[in-house]
Amino acid sequence: MAKKTVKDINVKGKKVLIRVDFNVPMKDGIITDENRIVEALPTIKYVLEKGGRAIVFSHLGRVKDDADRAKNSLEPVAKRLSEHLNQKVNFVPFTRGIELETAVNALKDGEVLMFENTRFEDIKGKKESNNDPELGKYWASLGDLFVNDAFGTAHRDAASNVGIAAHIKSTVAGFLLEKEINFIGGTLENPARPFVAILGGAKVSDKIEVIQNLLKIADKVLIGGGMAFTFFKAMGYEVGKSLLEVDKVELAKELLKEANGKIELGNDVFTGKAFDPETERNIRPIDQIPADELGLDIGPNTIQIFKSYIENAKTVVWNGPLGVFEFAKFAEGTKSVALAIASIKDQATTIIGGGDSAAAVIQFGLSDGFTHISTGGGASLEYLEGKVLPGIACVDDK
Ligand code: 3PG
Repeated sequence: MAKKTVKDINVKGKKVLIRVDFNVPMKDGIITDENRIVEALPTIKYVLEKGGRAIVFSHLGRVKDDADRAKNSLEPVAKRLSEHLNQKVNFVPFTRGIELETAVNALKDGEVLMFENTRFEDIKGKKESNNDPELGKYWASLGDLFVNDAFGTAHRDAASNVGIAAHIKSTVAGFLLEKEINFIGGTLENPARPFVAILGGAKVSDKIEVIQNLLKIADKVLIGGGMAFTFFKAMGYEVGKSLLEVDKVELAKELLKEANGKIELGNDVFTGKAFDPETERNIRPIDQIPADELGLDIGPNTIQIFKSYIENAKTVVWNGPLGVFEFAKFAEGTKSVALAIASIKDQATTIIGGGDSAAAVIQFGLSDGFTHISTGGGASLEYLEGKVLPGIACVDDK
């Protein structure tokens, strides 16, 4: 079902609540990756240009006590937002109360304020994260209209997304949420074929539902990363000291059976003797992994096999790195696959589910090579699992 967007409402002179996901990584108060801020700018700028009064808010981190509160203020993010917008962002260091209400009521058309981390409300009773109805109603009372642009938070049923939507007359998607719905949702609904899904990451247990869902939709599912070893074990191979989820071997057998040839794991791996960036790198066919070695990347033959599927694809969805790309010696698989996907950009829709694979592509300097890099980690994973995300469901239908 198509969702209403910010283009479907008249924001002129209106107090527009804009939920963004500014849960950005920070080190010593410095933002280390501002992609989520940059991706939210089109919506905020649009509202301001159309004469709306923007009330921007987000969560940041997980906040259980006062020590977490001290570490997780959104003030540095508000400063960065102000630099990007090239205009003042009035930062209000509260999540409710008279100061916030006064600041909201003082806003003029085209002005913007940002209030403090919504999860500060979690300290006394998880009000934000458990979607406390009083809190959603209170925040809704601050605005006239609600724009949800927080895709990264769309898998959470929180007061600042679902709760507000329940108490305001109009909830629409921002441009980022719209883009994520179109690329991820649209692709899963109607992919151009061949559709190749690539799944990596450490554990099968984290990806069971994604594998099951993509087996239904994709033409080929390429699996690498730590979780491949549970599949190799299920196929009868010895995997040495590689990551193995013993309790998931039976499930891996079932998935392989269900897949009926759709799953491709390749036939070799790069191994080392230790989980160490300096460990010696060996190439091992999957039936010859020594007992004292562990697989740390897909091997050179596997890279070629994966590339042969990618080359002909019209749709590629990738979630999870294929090796320990943080170690230069074991980044080859993930990087080669990233390059192969980037090389088909003109002929295919190529999507990276956020999280570690997005981080890998950014680390390789290849972000421009993809049609869409999701800003969601958990949210894109749940979307790929085929779940209905509460933060999307709460947006008004067209
Ligand atoms: C994310 O970074 O995945 C989102 O901002 C959600 O954060 P959370 O996992 O703390 O709810």
